[in-house]
Amino acid sequence: MSVHSEIKKVTTHKLLEMKHKGEKISMLTAYDFSMAKIVDEAGIDVILVGDSASNVMAGHETTLPITLDQMIYHASSVVRAVSRALVVVDMPFGSYQGNSKEALISAIRIMKESGGHAIKMEGGSEIAESITRILSAGIPVMGHLGLTPQSIYKFGTYNVRAKEEAEAQKLLEDAALLDKLGCFALVLEKIPAQLAKRVAESVTIPVIGIGAGGDVDGQVLVLHDMLGINKDFSPRFLRRYADLHTVMTNGITQYIKDVKSKDFPNDKESY
Ligand code: KIV
Repeated sequence: MSVHSEIKKVTTHKLLEMKHKGEKISMLTAYDFSMAKIVDEAGIDVILVGDSASNVMAGHETTLPITLDQMIYHASSVVRAVSRALVVVDMPFGSYQGNSKEALISAIRIMKESGGHAIKMEGGSEIAESITRILSAGIPVMGHLGLTPQSIYKFGTYNVRAKEEAEAQKLLEDAALLDKLGCFALVLEKIPAQLAKRVAESVTIPVIGIGAGGDVDGQVLVLHDMLGINKDFSPRFLRRYADLHTVMTNGITQYIKDVKSKDFPNDKESY
């Protein structure tokens, strides 16, 4: 028996069981091998290879520029590091909107070339045909409603979504549709906590929130934000669990001083 077969892997079925038992689901993003290894070994349930890589890793202002090839590169690096967590990969902007055949081809490329376990797509009824086609190929789909950053130019801001009755109603209908189509889970981003609670109570699948309050089945954050690597982003929903910006800056400035002062390397650090 290999070491890996003794590790209990997280599956989409396990997430459903967790919802039924009331056990909260933990999810974080990761985009590279080293970080994903730490996150997986710490015991996270789900790793999201988010298209937030476009912002966090590449420095773009939005998630729109990241390509399918780049997502596959990030996802395959993450998959190589992971023994336990379920790895979900974002379908990037332009790889699934509009044409369900192309959507399926994109999803198959992600699964085949990265080894990820599932994909995530932003939107509701507008992308139902693509979701259905992808599901029919046996690829698990996670939905994403509320603030959907790939539509930033339609919304105009990153403010809280679905505060008005009409948008809240559409979100409830989309959540019911994604559940009915067969998505295995749903991310709700930046919506009122009361609405997120209603969704979590009304659908059969796990609902994972980011800025959606505590009455959902799990939480997701962007790793670099919650570890305090990125200091410039502090929305109300973000809790910082570390100040890695300071830790890293201190380490790097000390190294620079040691090199300049010829303290590094010393005799013990030389051959
Ligand atoms: O890309 C991402 O990181 C996401 C999360 C914010 C849910 O979609």
